[in-house]
Amino acid sequence: MTTLRLDASKPDDIERAASLLREGKLVAIPTETVYGLAARIGDERAIEQIFQVKGRPHDNPLIVHCARIEDIERVATRIPPIAWRLFERFAPGPLTLILERAATVPAVVSAGLPTVAVRVPSPTVTCALIERVGEAVVAPSANRSGRPSPTTAEHVFEDLGGSIAAVLDAGRCSIGIESTVLNVVGTIAIVRPGVVTADDIAEVIGFQPPIVEASVQSQPIAPGMKYRHYAPATPVILIESLDEIPPEMYCDSVVLATKPIGQPWVARLLSHQTLYDEFRRADHEQRRAIYVLLTPDVRGDDALMNRLRKAAASAPTTDTHGSNQ
Ligand code: TXA
Ligand code: MG
Repeated sequence: MTTLRLDASKPDDIERAASLLREGKLVAIPTETVYGLAARIGDERAIEQIFQVKGRPHDNPLIVHCARIEDIERVATRIPPIAWRLFERFAPGPLTLILERAATVPAVVSAGLPTVAVRVPSPTVTCALIERVGEAVVAPSANRSGRPSPTTAEHVFEDLGGSIAAVLDAGRCSIGIESTVLNVVGTIAIVRPGVVTADDIAEVIGFQPPIVEASVQSQPIAPGMKYRHYAPATPVILIESLDEIPPEMYCDSVVLATKPIGQPWVARLLSHQTLYDEFRRADHEQRRAIYVLLTPDVRGDDALMNRLRKAAASAPTTDTHGSNQ
């Protein structure tokens, strides 16, 4: 299949993306966080295809994207007042809430769980697209499972070109890492940190929700947390000091840092916006390692540390560079 590149600045292309989704095709859509791989919420066959083309395990549920806050009532039920207050403050935007799933939402969306994850993305073009589809869309990040999330249309083509109908290209995502996921059914807890922080949430609910870090062994609230994630093929190594880099690695590796570090390292800027792009770039350049300098600003950033820890914990998928041990 040829994957179409549609231009989000053209109304005709938005309409084309909407009609493909209505027909049951998969379309990658821009959001402020990362690109998502969308299907119509009522289309179980298309949703099944999402799992297939991503290589996603079936017990990892999807996020539902609504065009407007009031549409959340169509996909979730018994929504607590605290959820409305959070949506009033943070929607549209990068906050996903886990709510009770409405009976009309196919169980496959939530991998059979009684809950559903919902958010309202902020780009107007994304909301306009969802409105034209006529119902909410489900959309996990548009990467192959285990790969870094896509923050440009090129990243989506790299992973899924040839297996999906189209990519709606709106340029680079403004945030660059995935939404904060907050559980509000039962224990209130952040199950995936993002740019909406525990402090931000505390301003609305009056207390800081804990961040629940899960491991492969445990029974996590967000099933996605137990899987390998956000990992380039190049090994990611977290360091406290540049002295930890062996001199023989200076040329063949890359150092990500939030401030310039000078010679002799190949250094690149570390930020939410650049993280996944730099991971993919290191793979293209066949670097032997990605060193990430954990300065206090990085350590204090829960969202960034979460992605870095997961990437560093992952074994490289393939020994593409021949010399990795
Ligand atoms: O920023 C984002 O959230 C992006 C854009 C496209 O919206 N989407 C995204 O989706 O990152 P995905 O599928 O890559 O990650 C969704 C996370 C997974 O960790 C999943 O396990 C969790 O949310 N999740 C989804 N539904 C859930 C549910 N009902 N209960 C618990 N966790 C859920
Ligand atoms: Mg993902």
